This record gives sequence, structure tokens and C-alpha cells, in this order.
Amino acid sequence: MSSSRPRDTRWRTPARWPLRARLIAEQVVLLSLVCVIIGVVTGFALRDFLVQRLDQQLTQTAGRTGFGPMMDGGGQRPGPSDLLDDHPLDNPGFGPGTLFSRVRNSQLKADRVNSSGVSETISDEAALAVLSAVPQDRKPRTVELGALGSYRVVAVPTPNGAAVTGLPLSEVNSTVLRMGLILGGVALGGLITVGLAGALIIRRTLEPLERVAATAGRVAELPLHEGEVALAERVPAADATPDTEVGQVGLALNRMLGHVGDALSARHASETRVRQFVADASHELRTPLAAIRGYAELTRRSRDSVSPEIAHAMGRVESEAVRMTSLVEDLLLLARLDAGRPLELGEVDLSRLVVDSVSDARIAGREHDWRLALPPEAVTVRGDADRVRQVLANLLSNARTHTPPGTTVTTMLNPGRAGWVDLVVADDGPGIPEALLPEVFERFARGDSSRSRAAGSTGLGLSIVAAVVSAHGGAVRVDSRPGATRFTVSLPAG
Ligand SMILES: Nc1ncnc2c1ncn2[C@@H]1O[C@H](COP(=O)(O)OP(=O)(O)OP(=O)(O)O)[C@@H](O)[C@H]1O
Ligand SMILES: [Mg+2]
Repeated sequence: MSSSRPRDTRWRTPARWPLRARLIAEQVVLLSLVCVIIGVVTGFALRDFLVQRLDQQLTQTAGRTGFGPMMDGGGQRPGPSDLLDDHPLDNPGFGPGTLFSRVRNSQLKADRVNSSGVSETISDEAALAVLSAVPQDRKPRTVELGALGSYRVVAVPTPNGAAVTGLPLSEVNSTVLRMGLILGGVALGGLITVGLAGALIIRRTLEPLERVAATAGRVAELPLHEGEVALAERVPAADATPDTEVGQVGLALNRMLGHVGDALSARHASETRVRQFVADASHELRTPLAAIRGYAELTRRSRDSVSPEIAHAMGRVESEAVRMTSLVEDLLLLARLDAGRPLELGEVDLSRLVVDSVSDARIAGREHDWRLALPPEAVTVRGDADRVRQVLANLLSNARTHTPPGTTVTTMLNPGRAGWVDLVVADDGPGIPEALLPEVFERFARGDSSRSRAAGSTGLGLSIVAAVVSAHGGAVRVDSRPGATRFTVSLPAG
């Protein structure tokens, strides 16, 4: 089974790491670099120094064997007999590991003082071969003698071949290694301490920045796009001082929030004014419209006595007055819903309301096939009966006016998610144009099909549906493709 959690790719690019992690990592990397440089330089310097000291010892030791690099005459030492010179290491005073080789009877013979201070003959052929190849230039140099390890040797020429004296480098090597280990241990301890202490310090240093970010985050969560917004969020005063960089950010953010708050208040005031104006204008238009309708109706009775043109004109005046009245009513309702006017909430028998509304629609649209799918028991919702009726009327009128005759329109009541009821109006008409679909709930959004135009549509029907449903705390959505359009309204169950 594979994990479905998306992998966190942030850590692949250091540039996208959190600031805290980056600072700690940079600190630790820099310090490691410094430690490595110190370690390498110190190691080489110490080794150089120790090798120099060993070379001094080597010169002295070689002198004591009778074949010191400073001596002249092929290393021949006046005094002690040649016999003794063949095995100088048998003399006391040579430390363990000291090595001496010389050609005797045209064969290279080498001795070495063992750990107990006794001189032994070296039989390792490879070591002997290396010793015989040491340049006879009286200069100390390092050679690898196989199992005997690294040696610092000096060779001086003698009439019958070179005499080589050597001291082991093992002590120098182990001293350098030991120093390396100590330095490594100290560096590791230092790095861990710097990492932990750095994490703590950086965390504390970044705390004000986190508080500023938290304030910005809280503001981002606020619903700033509509209504009256109380933008009281501010960066705490302690984090908004001009003395620190973060404080400057906090200060700037607070100033910006102040401006945004003012702008939002101004926007809200202007929205309220426009809303009030629309509500007032709609309200004021109702009376003259009622008068126009009344007079038009009055003239209908005496239309026989006027010319057909005038009768037709009066008929148009009446029908347009009716249309304008419904537009004005829609605008007034939207303005009131926008203003947050409370609904008259109660228990609404939705089943009954659906049956009534579909019956009305059947009368209005006789050429459509109206169907109902209701659960056997009555479904109730908590809402404003008149407004819910309007939602249903708008959806059914759309299904009638924006689809051709013969279209089947099915109204259903389904149980929604827990505590909700889904009211569905579905039809098998041509569907909502794809370009219109994303904004179908916007005000004055309408298709420009000839049917819509003929129906005298204004494009307010669905925006009223959306506003009423959201005032109920519910949601409306639409799925539409040719042959299947489905509006689903979710309302809180009663
Ligand atoms: N059932 C439907 N089938 C096809 N198109 C639809 C349907 N319902 C809505 N529409 C499209 O969505 C547009 C917007 O609908 P809305 O109800 O908001 O406005 P309207 O019906 O044009 O005008 P009004 O309802 O204000 O008289 C319509 O013009 C129409 O193009
Ligand atoms: Mg409509």
C-alpha cells in the first residue's frame, strides 16, 4: 500500500527551508569548515615539528652508530674497531625501533632494536630492498618498511655501500593521530553545543518575527471582502518599535492595517449608502408603478373605443409595468438581503411548498413535463417560508423559460449531509452555456438565447436564490451540461 500523503519537497532546496533551520545549518557548516581548517593546519604543523625533532634525534643516533651524516670520510669513525661498527646497535643507549643497515661481505645486513632493547637482524626482504635503495645524500627521508612501519632514515656512503640509520615514525604518527582525535572530539562537542545553543538563540531571536507573522496570518483569516469589518488585529506594541528590523516590519504592518481598516470602513459606508439608495429607489418606484398598472388596467376596459394601435400600446405599457414591478421587487429584496435584514424564521413544510410550487409551474408551463420525487414523510426546514417559496419559484421558472417545450423538469427532496435537506430541481434541457456557468449566480448574469430574451429575463433570479440561501446559512450549487441541468439547494433541516 503506498502512502497517499504528498512528499514534502521543501527540504530538497535549502532556499526553501525555514529561516530557523537555514540559520542553524549555515552556522554549523561554517563552524565545521573552521574546525576542519584548524585541524588540518595544526596536524601538518605538529607533524612537521615532530619530524624535525625526530630528524635531530636521527642525526645524533646516526652519529653514535659511527655513520652520522655530518661525518666525513665515508663515515669511517676513528677509534672503535670495525667489528664493533658492524653491530653498533649492540651498544647500549639505542631506543626501541632504532634501525641500522650496512653492506657487509657485499650483502646488506640490517639490525633493529626490539621493544625489549635487544638488537635483532631484519630478514624482511622487502624492507631490505627499500633500505638498499635509500639515496646516499645524508639527508633524512621517510620510507615505508612494510611490517616495520614508516621510518625516518638517513644514508651515508661508505666505500662498500651505504650505511643507513633509521628511527620509527610510529610515535610521531600516533601523536598526530591522537591530536586529531582530540581535536575532532572537541570540534564535535563544539558543533553540537553551537547547534543546540544556536537553535535556542535563533528561536528566541525569531520569536518577534513569528508574532508579526501570526498577526498577519490572523488578518488573512478575516473575511475582509464583504460587510462591516472590525480590523482590530495589530502587532503587539513591544514588537512594533523602530529600533529593530522586525520592529520596523511590525510598525509598518500596523500602519498598513490602520490604512486597510480605514479603507474597509469607507468601502462599507459607501456600500451601505448604495444599498440604501437602491432600497429607497425601489421602494419609491413601487407606488408610481402601481399607479401606471392601475391606469393601464383601467384603459383596458375601454379599449374597444380606441384605435388598435393605441390599444396595443396600452397593452405594452401594462405588461412592461408588470415586468418593471417584478424587477423593482427583486432589487428591493436583494438590497434588503444585502443589508442583512433578518429573516422571519420558522418551520417550513418543504414537501407541501414543493407540491404547491410545482402545481403552479405546471399551470404556467403546460408544454413541459413536471415531475416530483418526494420522500413519503413530510420534510421540514428551518427558514423563511416566503423566501424559500421564492427560491423554488425562481428555479422552476428558469426550468420553464430557458428550456424548450417537452423538457422534463424533476423536483426532488433528498436528505443531505447530517442536519441538512437538499432541494433539487433538475431538467433535461439544453443546459446553461459553459461561458455563463461560473457566474450564473451573479447579478444580471443571463444567457442571451432568444428564449431568454423572449422571456424578458433580467438575470436576477439566481442571484436572489443565492442570496436567500446564504441568508439561511445554506448553499446552492449547479451542475449543468446539455441534457442535464441540476440545481441543488441545501437548507438546514427543521
Ligand atoms: N434550467 C436552466 N437551463 C438553461 N439555462 C438556465 C437554466 N437556469 C438558468 N439558466 C441560464 O442562467 C441565466 C441566469 O438565470 P437567472 O434566473 O439568474 O436570470 P434570468 O432567468 O435570465 O432572469 P430572471 O430570473 O431575473 O427573470 C439565464 O439567463 C439562463 O441563460
Ligand atoms: Mg430566472
